Amino acid sequence: MPPAGPGRGSHRRPPQRRPTPPRRTPDPPRRIAFDLLAAIRERGAYANLTLPGLLDHEGLDERDAALATELGYGTVRWQGTLDAILARCLDRSPAELDPPVLDVLRLGAYQILHTRIPAYAAVAATVNLAGSVVGEGPARLVNAVLRKVSQRDLDSWISELAPPAADDGGSDDSDIARLALRHAHPEWIVRALADSLGPDRAELDDALAANNERPIVHLVARRMGRDELAEQVRGEPGPWSSHAVRIPHGGSPHSFAEIRDRRAGVQDEGSQLMALALADPSLHMDEPTGWWLDMCAGPGGKAALLSALAPEDVRILAADRAPHRSQLVARATSGERVHVVTADGLAPPWRDGFADRVLVDAPCSGLGALRRRPDARWRRTPQDVTELVELQRGLLSRALGAARPGGVVAYVTCSPHRAETVEIVHWALARGGASTLDARSSLPTQLPALGVGPYVQLWPHRHGTDAMFLALLRVH
Ligand SMILES: C[S@@+](CC[C@H](N)C(=O)[O-])C[C@H]1O[C@@H](n2cnc3c(N)ncnc32)[C@H](O)[C@@H]1O
Repeated sequence: MPPAGPGRGSHRRPPQRRPTPPRRTPDPPRRIAFDLLAAIRERGAYANLTLPGLLDHEGLDERDAALATELGYGTVRWQGTLDAILARCLDRSPAELDPPVLDVLRLGAYQILHTRIPAYAAVAATVNLAGSVVGEGPARLVNAVLRKVSQRDLDSWISELAPPAADDGGSDDSDIARLALRHAHPEWIVRALADSLGPDRAELDDALAANNERPIVHLVARRMGRDELAEQVRGEPGPWSSHAVRIPHGGSPHSFAEIRDRRAGVQDEGSQLMALALADPSLHMDEPTGWWLDMCAGPGGKAALLSALAPEDVRILAADRAPHRSQLVARATSGERVHVVTADGLAPPWRDGFADRVLVDAPCSGLGALRRRPDARWRRTPQDVTELVELQRGLLSRALGAARPGGVVAYVTCSPHRAETVEIVHWALARGGASTLDARSSLPTQLPALGVGPYVQLWPHRHGTDAMFLALLRVH
């Protein structure tokens, strides 16, 4: 028999539905910042490559896009310090939380401690986000934890959690740990920068702080006058490279016609200086072969500048092991005197001694460009450096082989880590066949703070560039 329904004259009331809470809709900037953190965590996505796509997809206006960028990049960059603070406010280790809940907490803590958003608004907006992306139960935890976070400001949390400085009775290790917490860097990276900079802790403090600043966009004028470019893009001439224009107002450089038609490009001023040093006319050689080699050329920024700088009768061979990278080089240098090949620099197709000048812009840890890649510091490990050292040695020794006697090799990294810089060069010199040139002499004379040479190490906090390393070697 079918169950009796409510018949005519029945006094039974229809069953009451539980009221459902209104569905939460997070604001787009926070949702995008959360999606960015999820993409990094779930599929190892790179922050700087992923965020533009998320912003385009959502079609945010400029203000919301700026907020999403600030929250996404800032949260990723400050992750280590945020986790230490969250650990103090939780009854368990952050690692025991569901990863998406931890992402929401980091995002909330970043807003409270690093932005001008009032704490109550940051907590409310983050709890709203939590209700939408991780559920109402975790949203209550998020609310409770963020309220604790908001009881102190960042400086006060750091004083609470940091070990004492060496001057204050701490050890060298506690000094490193304090700076790591203060500037949100893994301790091994703080130690690597300290090894490169020397014992001045105040300067180390500046160097770490500079890695948390967003860099100004630098352009390079390749096939046009630098002043003309500066005028067109409302930029300022860069202080060091005669080809550089800095655009402090930000904006989207790819919208400039000069960039689209490749008379100019986007390139850090430090990278420009590396190409300028190798192209230095005073490195003149008798009886040139007329060939320059860029051995690790992808995506082609330095090859394109070398092509603009080299004397007319020079041809440039630009190689990269990765086919998609050599395609980028071909695009960056199309129509120029650059021959592009996909080739492994460790097993090269060119003959020894064919080149007058060789650039080895070696694959490296990228610790010199942490400003640009907010997630890189947490992704990289000391093991990466150990593996890269082998490759860097092999590439430098092949580069020395490719240069003819009297030829010059520029060994370049975008890392200040001594294992990838000075120690690689010393290893190569110990094998004989080359000697160092003073790289400072091939750079603009007004560049300050270059130390005693013969190598050059640029720094974001000293020069406003990436931390590029340059050694110039003359082959015997
Ligand atoms: C730091 S990037 C070079 C950047 C480039 N010089 C520029 O200015 O645009 C290092 C490049 O080395 C390439 N590479 C890595 N191992 C290589 C090898 N064994 N031979 C040739 N290229 C290699 C990578 O694919 C990467 O494109």
